[in-house]
Amino acid sequence: MQIADFALERYLARWEFVAEHPMCASDVEGWRVADLLALADDEARTRWESLQLGYTEPNGDPLLRAEIAGLYEDLHPDDTLVCSGAEEALFCLFSTLLGPGDHVVVTWPGYQSLYEVARAAGADVTLHELHEADGWALDVERLVASIRPATRALIVNAPHNPTGMLPTAGEWRALGEACREADVRLVADEVYRFLEHDGRAPLAAGAELAPSFVSVGGLSKSFALAGLRIGWLASRDRDLLARCNTLKDYTTICAAAPSEVLALVALRARETVLARSRAIVGPNLELFDAFLAERPGFASWVRPAGGSVGFPHLAAGLDADLFAAELVETKGVLLLPGSAFGHPGNHVRVGLGRGDFSLALERLAAFLDARGVA
Ligand SMILES: Cc1ncc(COP(=O)(O)O)c(C=O)c1O
Repeated sequence: MQIADFALERYLARWEFVAEHPMCASDVEGWRVADLLALADDEARTRWESLQLGYTEPNGDPLLRAEIAGLYEDLHPDDTLVCSGAEEALFCLFSTLLGPGDHVVVTWPGYQSLYEVARAAGADVTLHELHEADGWALDVERLVASIRPATRALIVNAPHNPTGMLPTAGEWRALGEACREADVRLVADEVYRFLEHDGRAPLAAGAELAPSFVSVGGLSKSFALAGLRIGWLASRDRDLLARCNTLKDYTTICAAAPSEVLALVALRARETVLARSRAIVGPNLELFDAFLAERPGFASWVRPAGGSVGFPHLAAGLDADLFAAELVETKGVLLLPGSAFGHPGNHVRVGLGRGDFSLALERLAAFLDARGVA
């Protein structure tokens, strides 16, 4: 299989674990195992303590699948497939769904797997570019206009990485209806779902909108458990899930047994788990918004409506690649230049999920002060 390098992951592989403050991370500060286990009910605790480290069920632990199904309206556990991260879910989904002659439309800038796996499968990809001048909003009309007879899926990530875009409920409904009418599958990457800001409600999940639509979910972001590597596909198209499961035989076979039990604990205690994430991301969002208001010479942004990242635009005179390189080398603060998304717009991705955010911000302020950037 020929697939282009994943630019963002390559950049993070170079820096994420050496930078003192990975201020661009998209995941929320991970749970400690002991703290998570303290939330376990008796059944889950017993499973943990008596866990045998064998293979697990290829489509996922039945109790875990029941919890995942419970995140959606009217979905059955058999409408879910547990994967090793949303990453595996995306890989299996697009590899299963697409081949030469097929066409997909994908929101862009965005997480590279959302279009690169499709390209590697031989599909023709139309990137649906989001524009800062429009508040990064989805343009439903333009999206729908890019549908062709060969279009197999419309792929939307919301809340969106890297911009924090979240369609309105009306836009989302209109998009779902248009896809249903055109008989095109909507694939919704919802790994940042449940981290909506400023009182916004979560959108209806893609999988709830039509039997062929697919939701991609996971525990890395809103649930602050990236180290578990647990993600999933949810759809009432069970045949599609079965075919994805068959492909998993060549990737991981099944999810890691300890991760499945810890995932079960987290989903059963989801209100507590999500409240912790919101209590980290919300104040960081306010801090960064105020920081930008005080320092127009640094950057400006469209305030994210959801998720744990934002995509500020550096002011004229600052070059995103150089800025990020000097910042991490001199201050140990890692921002992600927009070039890691192949985006030319002089933006950087900021992650709002880390507990050391205010310390990172102090270092960023010192860096700007030393350069006379107000
Ligand atoms: C939009 C999006 N989808 C999927 C993933 C992969 O997440 P996971 O850690 O569950 O594999 C990411 C990770 O950054 C992401 O931003």
